[in-house]
Amino acid sequence: MLRNTRLSYGWIAIVFHWTIAVLIIGQWGLGWTMEHLVGPRLAFGLIQWHKSFGLLILALALLRLSWRLINPRPRLPEGMSLFEKLAAGSVHRGLYWLMILLPLSGWALVSASVLEIPTYTFYLFVMPDLPLERSDAAEAFWTTAHIVIGWFLLVIVAIHVLAALRHHFLLRDSVLKQMVRPASQSLTEQ
Ligand code: HEM
Ligand code: HEM
Repeated sequence: MLRNTRLSYGWIAIVFHWTIAVLIIGQWGLGWTMEHLVGPRLAFGLIQWHKSFGLLILALALLRLSWRLINPRPRLPEGMSLFEKLAAGSVHRGLYWLMILLPLSGWALVSASVLEIPTYTFYLFVMPDLPLERSDAAEAFWTTAHIVIGWFLLVIVAIHVLAALRHHFLLRDSVLKQMVRPASQSLTEQ
């Protein structure tokens, strides 16, 4: 079952979800390590990997959003209040926005830098910069945006994970299970 149904996510949405989740968490750790934990020589190589994985996340997030827009959304469990449903929808929309804006702000900050260091994407090709004004002030602006959006994403992901764990362990409904495998399989085994 590749596509979503009204009952559950399909394999494509599930694989997108977990691949991007792992990449974003790794990317956050890499960003933090290269900025705060290692010296400048090692940081240069790490930044190239950070830029490469960041652009990969951007491409996957755009594909995932397109897939989301042409698929039905699985129903939320009966018994959830209107507030909970609205909160879930807002958090998901926020996650989509942030997983696109965060890599874009990173790409903007390297594009605005007067150093003009090329982005060797996975050491396969040079990714062109965005057409932005280059100046120290513009670079500082986009760097601050990148850091602030990064923290925002971390907080929203934390809320999202706590909500998923609440559904699974306290409410004991199928919300987390339906993001692990399509419902038809889990239902037949219950
Ligand atoms: C989802 C994707 C991304 C995440 C989660 C992420 C996360 C981070 C984090 C946590 C830092 C360290 C911030 C600090 O505390 O100083 C950072 C720095 C940085 N990121 Fe990203 N990033 C992403 C995408 C990108 C992309 C696509 C690029 C460029 C193409 C990029 C370029 C940079 C650069 C150059 C820095 C160093 C900024 C400085 O000089 O302070 N990032 N990123
Ligand atoms: C960086 C990490 C993560 C990001 C960016 C993220 C993003 C998202 C997004 C955008 C959706 C909505 C999917 C859609 O309707 O198209 C979603 C759904 C979901 N996520 Fe995550 N997620 C992350 C990590 C996690 C983790 C660690 C868990 C489990 C503990 C989790 C559990 C779920 C569940 C259960 C759903 C389905 C919710 C529903 O049907 O209403 N996510 N996630």
